[in-house]
Amino acid sequence: MPDHDMRSGASPLSGKAVVITGAGRGIGASCAELACALGADVVIADIDRDVLESVASKIRERGGSVHASVADVTDINDAQRIVAACVERFGHIDGLVNNAALHAQEWFWDMDPAWSRRMVDVNVLGPIYCAHAAALAMRERGGAIVNMTSGSQSGLPAWSAYGATKGAVASLTYSLAMELGDAGIRVNAVSPMAATRMSDPAPGFAPAAPIGHTTFPPASNNAAVVAFLLSDHSAPLTGQVVRIDADGISLMTHPAILNESFRAGSDWSFSDVQHLFETGLATLSQPLGIVRQ
Ligand SMILES: NC(=O)c1ccc[n+]([C@@H]2O[C@H](COP(=O)([O-])OP(=O)(O)OC[C@H]3O[C@@H](n4cnc5c(N)ncnc54)[C@H](O)[C@@H]3O)[C@@H](O)[C@H]2O)c1
Repeated sequence: MPDHDMRSGASPLSGKAVVITGAGRGIGASCAELACALGADVVIADIDRDVLESVASKIRERGGSVHASVADVTDINDAQRIVAACVERFGHIDGLVNNAALHAQEWFWDMDPAWSRRMVDVNVLGPIYCAHAAALAMRERGGAIVNMTSGSQSGLPAWSAYGATKGAVASLTYSLAMELGDAGIRVNAVSPMAATRMSDPAPGFAPAAPIGHTTFPPASNNAAVVAFLLSDHSAPLTGQVVRIDADGISLMTHPAILNESFRAGSDWSFSDVQHLFETGLATLSQPLGIVRQ
């Protein structure tokens, strides 16, 4: 358990029941371990039974309250089942961490269409299905949903299809935060960074190094942010994407309209548009990739 939790002696997630998908390894497993250590009752879900059981055993050995459920988040019935399991076992659901995902590091020239489709299913439909099931169950007493996006949502060569799924997750976060706020449901996202199998380079690719650092941060750094977003201590926050880098925590900008509209009259022609770009609009072109403003 991180020292700040030991120091405060508080259990910020005490009384909360949380579902975490993709909790069999990596960031999801770390989120589950920390959420239990901070007092939550946790349903862990993963498509991989073996790793899921080992995470559950580890948490139980430490006295944590955990229920493991093998589930495929692309199956709407599984999404509903893991939320129902949380309500049945623990009486309610207060949090959902949409963490399960697949990845692909591949040049776009070599893109595998079948794998891209599976990534869209797992990374986009999975969070939509789980968030829908959780939101319905949270409707009376509110709750917190945390989605996992990625720096690749801003653009990253060799990660286009994966990055597209994570851009979708960011958009989902913004819309759900706006729509579910009236029901007391907060929706935020984390743009994580951790040494996991996902950060291992694919064959033929050089190891990636976080900017200014030689190593990736531990999964537990990410888990601490997720736990904060699940807790009531983050009550004012919704619709935000929290970025984690090797050197710390920041917020991502929201994609918004950059400037006052350039006026071209009520009807405009090709040459009007060309004129606007050549006389100013083009100079506002935005940098690509995960950059700091
Ligand atoms: N590791 C990083 O640096 C990094 C960077 C950016 C974003 N992320 C995101 O963080 C999250 C966790 O990543 P990680 O590095 O721990 O990945 P990981 O591959 O180590 O773990 C992902 C887990 O999801 C599970 N999973 C896959 N498909 C599933 C399905 N259909 N149903 C249920 N579970 C399924 C896997 O079995 C696995 O246990 C992901 O959303 C990922 O996109 C990670």
